[in-house]
Amino acid sequence: MTTFRYLTAGESHGPGLTVIVEGIPAGLEVTEEYIEKQMSRRQKGYGSGGRMKIEKDRADLRSGVRHGISLGSPIAMWIENKDFANWTEAMSVSEVGDDVDKKVYTKIVPGHADFPGALKYVQHDLRNVLERASARETAARVAAGSIARRLLEEIGISIHSRSVATGDQDGRSVATEDVDWDVVEGSEVRASDADADARFKAAIDKSKKERTTIGGVFEVVAFGAPVGLGSHVHWDRKLDARLAYSMMSINAVKGVEIGTGFANTRKPGREVQDVIEPDSSDPRRFKQITNHAGGIEGGMSNGNPIVVNVAIKPIATMTNPLPSVDINTGELVDAAYNRSDICQVARACPVGEAMMALTLAEAMLEKFGGDSLDEIKRNYAGYVESHQEFGNS
Ligand SMILES: Cc1cc2nc3c(=O)[nH]c(=O)nc-3n(C[C@H](O)[C@H](O)[C@H](O)COP(=O)(O)O)c2cc1C
Repeated sequence: MTTFRYLTAGESHGPGLTVIVEGIPAGLEVTEEYIEKQMSRRQKGYGSGGRMKIEKDRADLRSGVRHGISLGSPIAMWIENKDFANWTEAMSVSEVGDDVDKKVYTKIVPGHADFPGALKYVQHDLRNVLERASARETAARVAAGSIARRLLEEIGISIHSRSVATGDQDGRSVATEDVDWDVVEGSEVRASDADADARFKAAIDKSKKERTTIGGVFEVVAFGAPVGLGSHVHWDRKLDARLAYSMMSINAVKGVEIGTGFANTRKPGREVQDVIEPDSSDPRRFKQITNHAGGIEGGMSNGNPIVVNVAIKPIATMTNPLPSVDINTGELVDAAYNRSDICQVARACPVGEAMMALTLAEAMLEKFGGDSLDEIKRNYAGYVESHQEFGNS
């Protein structure tokens, strides 16, 4: 059985990040240029901190690909941290003497992993927690996700994302199905219209001036997914549950909504269910006239766009630090400041896309799995063909 899985390793200011992606079939075109393009999308963003000016992320393919084509063996990648040049001693894997600056910090940042991590792993230097808790790790997920995305493209699935709220500013005036994704890619805040772009930037400027941070909501959409990814038969096979898990795993994400899940609670049932009608021109033989369910019913994709909204909290690290305590002495202090973003909503969007791609690729391989891309495509075509027996008699 092919199991799709991936693993990341690496500290924020260490030498780099390692990623292994396993379960990708043989025969898939995979290039470093494609991965780099996806990774560069995570680096843009109005309100980013200084780190992104130092890093120019790219992943070196180290195994599993030959002459630009996957071999079916594990794909390993290495992402160098350019910033490591400034941290060679502080983040050295070997012991260093007491005379070097180890960049120890002990003043807990509320809202970061510092406090529970220190007690759980018995660490008196909070850097030993922060270095892995940092969202630098999401660069590795975007690299892994770009391989999953490449696979999904082969069966016509594409994934997009946009910011739909930044701080108290809402930016949903363009409906999901009407978004011009080139406009979003051209916006530093990943807004889908000029008005939202201006309001999101003003909100970020204001929060910078007030020396605080702001969060928001981003939307991730997958178009072209067939009916039947995931399953209703067991709790941990449900696609909506799996997407919620993967989105919630992104640093600072505190809420996940499938389709219009929250707004639906305020409407009567007749206005919320997606009514279905026959449509012989649709490969599924049917279509739904609305998509409140966000493309998933009973834990299975239903062929409509899969829509997930993700709430991300304001960043915990602030130039005007919150009152806090020192982990070792218990003294009241100001929280530590490590170089930081003001607003990470736009930068989190490509991470959300990566998590969508990884989750759908896993579900797609379960359903159509094979050792080569050709085998998967045959399985997929046969399955789609089987829909023709419905709604016909
Ligand atoms: C793309 C991205 C960038 C982030 N940048 C920062 C940052 O610069 N400073 C910071 O304190 N937290 C940042 N975070 C959030 C923290 O990593 C996160 O809040 C922390 O690990 C604690 O985990 P939790 O908020 O999920 O509970 C970022 C998150 C994402 C998704």
